[in-house]
Amino acid sequence: MRYSLNPISLPHTMIIIKTESEIEKMRVAGRLAAEVLEMIESHVVAGITTNELDLICHNYMVDVQNVIPAPLNYKGFPKSICTSVNQQVCHGIPNEKKLKNGDIINIDITVIKDGYHGDTSKMFGVGEVSAHAKRLIKVTEESMYLGIQQVKAGARLGDIGHAIQKHAEAHRYSVVREFCGHGIGKKFHEEPQVLHYGKAGTGEVLDAGMILTIEPMINLGKKEIKVLPDGWVAVTKDRSLSAQFEHTVLVTATGYEILTLRQEEMQ
Ligand code: MF3
Ligand code: CO
Ligand code: CO
Repeated sequence: MRYSLNPISLPHTMIIIKTESEIEKMRVAGRLAAEVLEMIESHVVAGITTNELDLICHNYMVDVQNVIPAPLNYKGFPKSICTSVNQQVCHGIPNEKKLKNGDIINIDITVIKDGYHGDTSKMFGVGEVSAHAKRLIKVTEESMYLGIQQVKAGARLGDIGHAIQKHAEAHRYSVVREFCGHGIGKKFHEEPQVLHYGKAGTGEVLDAGMILTIEPMINLGKKEIKVLPDGWVAVTKDRSLSAQFEHTVLVTATGYEILTLRQEEMQ
């Protein structure tokens, strides 16, 4: 989501603590969102258009999973998934352009099941991908995991941002500032805003039962982005490649539970 400063600097935000029955519904929504990413993998090949990927995902969500694709008509977004290719940072709108060998693409899936949202994204490489693109993807996923590993009751939001920023910048990449992770539940975007940079030991204290997304956008070049005239698609200003991964994560007393884990991530 787009990062916004509070008009009035509030002392603290209202972060919803989910009940056990809400958490169970969030587990279902999270699993379904993850399954869309698993389903689409074999279709991400040279020659397919992002509109075709959108249609395959839309039909799977609506006809097979009986879920609502959350992006469709969300604040005017025209499609059911986000597809962000190469220098696109996030909120890529599916279109008629074909993917080609060497492209990298983020597919971001958000479903609504039984009133609750599951939100997750991952990177795919099309055909043979350059070594520098592969490295960016790997470090971005590692950054997301290092952020997730900070999560437990008593930790602070700044711990997450700091872990992500430290790893990305150690590889001389940059962290996008304009978009952030978010609380999630009955609403797509709830409090708090989860920045992907910052200072350890600062920010809101996490508590068991909170559910957040962690979704760093990491650029190979400079951190600056611009939003295209369509009002949605964010691209890197210097046209360098950008990567993103996203999970929906439950805060527990001793750590975290990733609600959008895919088979490939389970040992
Ligand atoms: N899924 C995105 C997120 O992670 C939000 C997409 S908003 C949309 O927060 F309208 F572009 F779908
Ligand atoms: Co999100
Ligand atoms: Co998302």
